[in-house]
Amino acid sequence: MQVTINGIALAYSDTGRGFPIVFLHAFPLNRTMWAQQEAALSRHCRVVTIDLRGHGESDAPLWHYSLDQAAEDVRALLDHMSIQQAIFVGLSMGGYILFAFYRRYAGRVKGLVLADTRAQADTPEGKEGRFQMAQTAYKNGSSAVADIMIPKLLSPATIRTKPEIVQRVRMMIEGNQVSGIAGDLMAMAERPDSIPLLKQISCPTQIIVGESDQATPLSDAKLMADQIPGAHLAVIPGAAHLANLEQPELFTQIVRSFAENVGETGSR
Ligand code: MLT
Repeated sequence: MQVTINGIALAYSDTGRGFPIVFLHAFPLNRTMWAQQEAALSRHCRVVTIDLRGHGESDAPLWHYSLDQAAEDVRALLDHMSIQQAIFVGLSMGGYILFAFYRRYAGRVKGLVLADTRAQADTPEGKEGRFQMAQTAYKNGSSAVADIMIPKLLSPATIRTKPEIVQRVRMMIEGNQVSGIAGDLMAMAERPDSIPLLKQISCPTQIIVGESDQATPLSDAKLMADQIPGAHLAVIPGAAHLANLEQPELFTQIVRSFAENVGETGSR
């Protein structure tokens, strides 16, 4: 489905019935990275997945991007769907956007799942890396970005033994326009430090991390779990950064149990 939000076409899927769980994808993927979670969880609740601005079937305007803008897109889409409150699941960049969303709309967040993400802003070296990747995208296209990103996103074992996952990730990355990839890189480079926000998060929170995630490692997950009051941490074995794709059943089970504990699935 597509709807015009904040002047651009935004694509999303809306499956199942009951309390909504909203999924925000990683950089530089799209909403189909949640296919397994969507199939399993939509039997118990309403599952909304969104192609963020610049990704998948959403428009990728050539202009300034920010994580606040992405949060505004999510808010406007939820308004359009008459969803007042939801559980939100964000992986990596999706988690960065959830921090921006929470800053503005805490009252709309019934529960947070922060997966393979971090609260810290980019270091100067990290910002420089964003700049270099944007140049690569501009000069050599999205397949060059896929070459760089795949070893950061998936574990060596997944790359060696699960070519179908590698191919799926490659297709998602190559399906993005360079304007969207560069826009996201600028947005992530400019994001603020969210560590001061952590202690103010008052909704139930689940942290998830793949045990061999190098991009946002266990230490980042522990920091969030330590600082967010009452947060729980789950470490997923046999997974790196894209834990939901590498270990879909376990990831889904953690989200489902969390939603049940928050009191918002039809399966109790
Ligand atoms: C992601 O998976 O969204 C990215 O690895 C986030 C980042 O580059 O910081």
